[in-house]
Amino acid sequence: MIPANKNISKIKTYVPGKSGSIKLKTKPTKLSSNESPIKFSKNTINKINQTHLDLAKYPDPECNKLKKKISKLYNVNSKNIIFGNGSDELFYLISYCYLNKDLQGLYSKHGFLIYPIAINAASGRCIFAKEENFKANIDELIKKSNQNTRVCFIANPNNPTGTYLTKSEIKKLREGLPKKCLLVIDSAYSEYVTEKDYSDSLSYAKTRNDVIVTKTFSKIFGMAALRLGWAYCPEQVVQTLNKIRPAFNINSYAQEIAINLLDDKEFLKNSIAHNLYWKKWLTNSFNDLGFEVIPSVANFIMVKFKSENLATTLADSLEKSNIYIRKLNNYKLSNCLRISIGSEKDLKNLVRTLKKIIAGKNK
Ligand SMILES: Cc1ncc(COP(=O)(O)O)c(C=O)c1O
Repeated sequence: MIPANKNISKIKTYVPGKSGSIKLKTKPTKLSSNESPIKFSKNTINKINQTHLDLAKYPDPECNKLKKKISKLYNVNSKNIIFGNGSDELFYLISYCYLNKDLQGLYSKHGFLIYPIAINAASGRCIFAKEENFKANIDELIKKSNQNTRVCFIANPNNPTGTYLTKSEIKKLREGLPKKCLLVIDSAYSEYVTEKDYSDSLSYAKTRNDVIVTKTFSKIFGMAALRLGWAYCPEQVVQTLNKIRPAFNINSYAQEIAINLLDDKEFLKNSIAHNLYWKKWLTNSFNDLGFEVIPSVANFIMVKFKSENLATTLADSLEKSNIYIRKLNNYKLSNCLRISIGSEKDLKNLVRTLKKIIAGKNK
């Protein structure tokens, strides 16, 4: 057998949220990947239906139209923008460009799982810092950093815990990290957050030359299928990442649709309102069943159970009813489960089925 790069063996293959079983004919209730349940406004749907592309032509490698739109909307210079095939791709590009076997990539213990995969893929040394109450711990992250730490990934809010760092905590983290270390703030869920002491860190990043902020169209913009993310980076970082970015990494359809979605204020407003209302409803439903919910500012909740066995049994029983939530064993959170804030119908189906499963167990 031809041996793969040594670091690859350290990688645990990413297990995405389950989508259903081909054995079951009915439509699955998918609450395992934090996707949006909200329908686009009529105006956006019309525009999408009118999008006709010449499929024989390669997409614009620079995403110029979309870049101009984002630049205006977020008040950032075009030179500071780079696109990824999902924000995931950006984490790989950053790791490949800034890490090697002598350098460290840092993340928080229950941080997003793509970070250790990307760090190892780049042969970097993968270091994590412990958390407190399911929240990234600034002091621990700083303590674990050293002169060889070149990248620190932090999801804010974090997936799967749903906790967040305040503006001042982010600033403290940046100031405590070594000067040569890039701080990557993954704000995939930022649009859902309504807390006053939170920021997606874009305005902070603009004042620095060592902070990257990543964003995605997969969550609140409801475009996960088309794979599109972008990042604000210092100009020199954009130039570096562009050296290895696959030339046509964003397909034409994603570029066109994203432009329309950015204009759909009604859709965004509905998404935030739906998320706040049903997150509270779901949290109360789990509390009523006697389960602890970790307060979340994102579009999912994490529920903590007394044992790994209980968490696994409940998730497996739900799967038999064609309902999919996320087990968190790979996140070192085996006694927890993560549930997306889906549609009213899907959430009610989940809670109704869960009650039946629990009643059956207690017989
Ligand atoms: C924290 C976080 N960052 C990034 C992503 C990836 O998003 P994308 O679809 O843009 O690759 C996810 C997806 O679940 C996520 O939870």
